[in-house]
Amino acid sequence: MLFMTTVGFIGSGNIGSTVARLAIAGGYDVVMSNSRGPEALADLVADLGPHARAATATGAAEAGDLIVVSIPVKAIGAVPVAPLAGKTVMDTGNYYPQRDGAIAELDDDSASSSELLARHLGDAHVVKVFNNIFFKHLAALARPTGSDRSALAIAGNDPAAKAAVTAFLDAIGYDAVDAGPLDAGRSFQPGTAAYGGMYGEFSNEAGTPANSDVIRAVLSK
Ligand SMILES: NC(=O)c1ccc[n+]([C@@H]2O[C@H](COP(=O)([O-])OP(=O)(O)OC[C@H]3O[C@@H](n4cnc5c(N)ncnc54)[C@H](OP(=O)(O)O)[C@@H]3O)[C@@H](O)[C@H]2O)c1
Repeated sequence: MLFMTTVGFIGSGNIGSTVARLAIAGGYDVVMSNSRGPEALADLVADLGPHARAATATGAAEAGDLIVVSIPVKAIGAVPVAPLAGKTVMDTGNYYPQRDGAIAELDDDSASSSELLARHLGDAHVVKVFNNIFFKHLAALARPTGSDRSALAIAGNDPAAKAAVTAFLDAIGYDAVDAGPLDAGRSFQPGTAAYGGMYGEFSNEAGTPANSDVIRAVLSK
């Protein structure tokens, strides 16, 4: 498989910027975007260094071989569609009605937030990942290899997209645990046992390593 070299970010907040920093350390270039335009990302891009640049959301979507969507769920409808056709899209989103407003299909669980994104995008291959780890733990727990390497759950319908995400996670310091198809992403959404607790308390920014066995066990609860 070709090494995918550029990661495009739709959303550059806590989690997007953390994944970007890990991606650069793993050998990728990143293209960051937000809702306010590239000028508002000047400080972040300067901080990330020469392998980062800012663009519009459409520009980031066009530039990325791999894409990270890391925005409030209420903004899914604004994610560019055409430039993401056929691409692997990592979805970090979580539905919080107090932030996102009530979304009927999520409230009655007829769809998950990742399924709403997948439906909006049509031809993209959405993989749910990164949604169940506090961004400070994500930064702190990355490891090149070894017994204290942590794992992240992934869920998606396209095997090649999941393989691409698994390779990306490996490059940025994590193993992957395949939780199944996209609808199985419900097993690590807010309110589940696999929603974050295994990586430690928020008050401990260093986090607690949680390897593949730990993640598999908590997913099966
Ligand atoms: N914080 C965590 O530890 C964490 C962990 C895992 C998952 N999550 C989930 O991941 C998502 C992002 O969380 P976060 O904490 O990173 O949020 P955040 O810090 O508030 O950042 C949100 C980002 O999304 C951008 N955005 C909003 N609307 C957009 C649009 N229409 N087009 C492009 N970009 C848009 C914002 O840009 P502007 O600033 O310009 O509006 C900002 O860059 C949420 O669904 C959250 O629940 C968070």
